Amino acid sequence: MMTAEELKAEILAKTAEYYRMVEAPKQAAAFEPGKSRVNYAGRVFDEKEMVNLVDSALEFWLTYGRWSRQFEEGLAKYLGTRFCLLVNSGSSANLLAFATLTSPLLGARRVNRGDEVITVAAGFPTTVAPVVQYGAVPVFVDVELETANVDAAQLEAAWSPRTKAVMLAHTLGNPFNVKAVKAFCEKHGLWLVEDNCDALGSKYDGKFTGTWGDIGTSSFYPPHHMTMGEGGAVYTADPLLHKIALSIRDWGRDCWCPSGKDNTCGCRFTKQFGKLPVGYDHKYVYSHFGYNLKATDMQAAVGCAQLEKFPGFVEKRKANYARLYEGLKDLPQLSVFRPYPESDPSWFGFLMTVSKDAGFTRNDLGKHLEARNVQTRNLFAGNVTKHPCFADLAEGRDYRVATPLVNTDVIMNDALWIGLYPGMGDAKLDYMLQCVRDMCGM
Ligand SMILES: Cc1ncc(COP(=O)(O)O)c(C=O)c1O
Repeated sequence: MMTAEELKAEILAKTAEYYRMVEAPKQAAAFEPGKSRVNYAGRVFDEKEMVNLVDSALEFWLTYGRWSRQFEEGLAKYLGTRFCLLVNSGSSANLLAFATLTSPLLGARRVNRGDEVITVAAGFPTTVAPVVQYGAVPVFVDVELETANVDAAQLEAAWSPRTKAVMLAHTLGNPFNVKAVKAFCEKHGLWLVEDNCDALGSKYDGKFTGTWGDIGTSSFYPPHHMTMGEGGAVYTADPLLHKIALSIRDWGRDCWCPSGKDNTCGCRFTKQFGKLPVGYDHKYVYSHFGYNLKATDMQAAVGCAQLEKFPGFVEKRKANYARLYEGLKDLPQLSVFRPYPESDPSWFGFLMTVSKDAGFTRNDLGKHLEARNVQTRNLFAGNVTKHPCFADLAEGRDYRVATPLVNTDVIMNDALWIGLYPGMGDAKLDYMLQCVRDMCGM
């Protein structure tokens, strides 16, 4: 008779064997230019992710558990910050980060309905959505064409006595002007939320993006820097922001017992909260109107394996960017976005803007590449204020455009990006290069 431990070891060994038989050959398949699809992003994994996933399935804890704790501790350690909370997506991470700033525990610095949050329109919608959903007012400033990030010189023009926060993404892994944005926030006493969903592993002035502001967020959706299928994280060095975020992630509860545990505080039936009777069970006391944004332990188990590989992913992203940059920098029809000298980006994509006099449009280039099996992407929403979801909003009341969004519109009309994820070998990169160069007649 086998013991349960022996059976488990056999199942895990078989899982690894299955990976080697079924998945590894797919990843090793020879690239056939024009025939094989060149995706803009994709999962990079090996048997460890599959083994962890099956291991957590056999434990059948399912919800937040030991893998989730391990992942949170691991990511906080990697980033060199104090606290990390695992959530079920990057959009949930942005929602949680913003909702944290609306807590009554923050006193005068709390973001109230009608308060303003400065951001940009050239990016992903869920950097902005939580602000609108809550009834605060996003205030848009333009971006720089060279970096596709906020034009920090325009921040002062966007400030008003109602401004409480700045919430910005590091575009496609390229850090925004952290020095200038931080200085602006410090001058006016504003919160800074860094949407780090596309920039995990990027550094500015030697320190990881996502750890410069008050709160940082990540996404672990498959195209992102690492994956667990769906997933995200919120990180901070501030114990109060962490306490609030934990409450709001977990239904708004006041209690902080891990799932499956009771009475961590030691006064479960002795304290008095709000207008509740003395001794009302602390487990069911709510200090916020919260959500349930938790991920499952199976997702975290995959994330733990990814985290071990992560520094290697970052190096590969940098090397892939360098190869694309060298191959495309001389093309007069395209301008390629660039980092600040202080930045060391963990690139998410390679953004190019087609010149007005190129002789072809961005969509021509997109069609040319897609016809050759190279996947392309616009910079997400381009200009989010132009989308149907804004139709119900009144400018000046529900949102403000502080400075003309001139470069934002150039990005909306003329920019696209191609991938450089760690699973992309030199043959695919060189093929993409040649396809772009062909379009430019080079
Ligand atoms: C900058 C940015 N923020 C947030 C998100 C949302 O992440 P998720 O898809 O995990 O909700 C994305 C998604 O790609 C993104 O690019």
